[in-house]
Amino acid sequence: MEIISDYLVIGSGIAGLSLALKTAALGTVILITKKEKAESNTNYAQGGIATVVSSLDTFELHITDTLKTGMGLSHKESVEVMIKEAPDRLNELIHVGVAFTEKDGLLDLGREGGHSRNRIVHAHDHTGAEIERALLYAISIHPNITLLEDHIAIDLITEHHLGFQVKNDTPIHCWGAYVLDVKNNVVKKFLASRTILASGGVGHVYLHTTNPLIATGDGVAMAYRAGALIGNMEFIQFHPTSLFNSGSPSFLISEAIRGFGGKLFTKRNEEFMNRYDARGSLASRDIVAQAIDIELKKSGDEYVLLDLRHLDSESIKQKFPLIYKTCLEKFKLDITSESIPVVPAAHYSCGGVITDLNGRTGIENLYACGEVAMTGVHGANRLASNSLLEAIVFAHRAFEDMRLNKKNNPDMIPKIPEWDDSGTFDSEEWVLIEHDRKEIQQIMWDYVGIVRSNLRLERAERRLNLIKNEIENYYKRTKVTEGLIELRNLATVSDLIIKSAISRKESRGLHYTTDYPQKDDKNCLQDTIISRFES
Ligand code: FAD
Ligand code: SIN
Repeated sequence: MEIISDYLVIGSGIAGLSLALKTAALGTVILITKKEKAESNTNYAQGGIATVVSSLDTFELHITDTLKTGMGLSHKESVEVMIKEAPDRLNELIHVGVAFTEKDGLLDLGREGGHSRNRIVHAHDHTGAEIERALLYAISIHPNITLLEDHIAIDLITEHHLGFQVKNDTPIHCWGAYVLDVKNNVVKKFLASRTILASGGVGHVYLHTTNPLIATGDGVAMAYRAGALIGNMEFIQFHPTSLFNSGSPSFLISEAIRGFGGKLFTKRNEEFMNRYDARGSLASRDIVAQAIDIELKKSGDEYVLLDLRHLDSESIKQKFPLIYKTCLEKFKLDITSESIPVVPAAHYSCGGVITDLNGRTGIENLYACGEVAMTGVHGANRLASNSLLEAIVFAHRAFEDMRLNKKNNPDMIPKIPEWDDSGTFDSEEWVLIEHDRKEIQQIMWDYVGIVRSNLRLERAERRLNLIKNEIENYYKRTKVTEGLIELRNLATVSDLIIKSAISRKESRGLHYTTDYPQKDDKNCLQDTIISRFES
């Protein structure tokens, strides 16, 4: 089955929705999303969007904080663009109907780790859900947009599918994607003049993550297979404070709680963060997560404690209603009178599909924005609440680029073959898929986590190679299912993370290895770039 539109957007988080809404002014848009439409990392964002709106703040301060956190690897131009364009993008969200929290008629500004000013614009502690609500409503009444739930992209359509031998220096074009319609169990061919990857993060590569189940790195894996350049995959951000034993995904306890005065203690009541950084509990995430990891390994404890008991309980309930209620009702924990047991969990991928300042990837007609992309903003570590911001700013820039270089011409698309699953069989081996998924997550958690070493990374690489080859063989022989598509992508992304981590011979930001404990080696000041043509 062939479905044609001017624009194909993959993903319904903040990046995909905001871009689809704008692009619909240029032509027809099909937006596919693999689960229910709101299910995305965006939907669970708590803290907010970092933006300079206060008269006590300046662009320069936000730029400095971002560059400092990125540990020398952030691309200055991308950072400047993102921060200077932020107020305009924020106003657009307000115009679309996002109800941010106000105080005395002005936006209420929260504080998070690594920020030198209060600048986090938020909707209480459920900012992402409010953004999804408003954008999805605007999409639902737009006549030019068709949103399809339960449609999972399998692969981008490029010269590979025409049987061409693509090499390093051959230009590659994207003409859409093969997509599994999960409910009807049929693979469809979506063709478009422009395809936009907005498929989010990779959290489920790890055993413990704050990300919802959709975050399986599909976009990075698809783009890599298609021949795009992938950058900085070793920089996986672990959020320091997810609720201990809260299941999968782990429930996030927002950094805004520490911004509000929450403090971290060991079980023996020591306020340990002051030993690691002068900013104490409000140091940037890499430092706090590494400190917690060290403390837990030293003590053998299973968690550290986040204490809010010295803070006004009514203010806590009013400022953090989602966290207060979820902890109380789901986990029987009253955060106003009991300390919160917390542990780090995989949270965010700073690396991804390399793009320029306008969201263009190296593949013609393929754009990427949001968490799937590497715009250069985050470098070796992301500053809190810069992710929603990056997504809206670069989605807008991709839209502008497409507007200025309009290309609505389906006639330019060559004849693309239908999805071929002849010779494959229907799999009933769910147990194999589930087992491999768990094994990958365990390997990544144990050997490619917060603290790494050559020995651990090499062990991870050997084990993962075995599983990856098995999955590829199985994939070739079996009809695609959602579980198999995700598993294959998890294996590919894990491999990219491991390879990137092995190639970085230093500790920087989120990549800490005991073999190169010295930080900030000036000889290593470059991005890690991987292409399928070179591995
Ligand atoms: P997502 O919002 O993850 O959306 C990706 C979409 O792609 C989903 O709809 C998914 O179903 C779809 N998809 C994926 N693969 C496929 C496929 N193969 N086919 C079809 N569809 C596909 N950042 C901040 O800046 N501030 C915060 O306060 C904040 N809090 C956070 C709290 C939590 C718990 C989490 C998990 C993240 C938080 N982040 C925060 C990070 C931020 O939410 C994400 O980086 C951001 O929302 C990513 O947006 P996105 O549009 O790129 O991707
Ligand atoms: C949080 O609220 O702590 C998450 C913020 C972020 O990931 O930027």
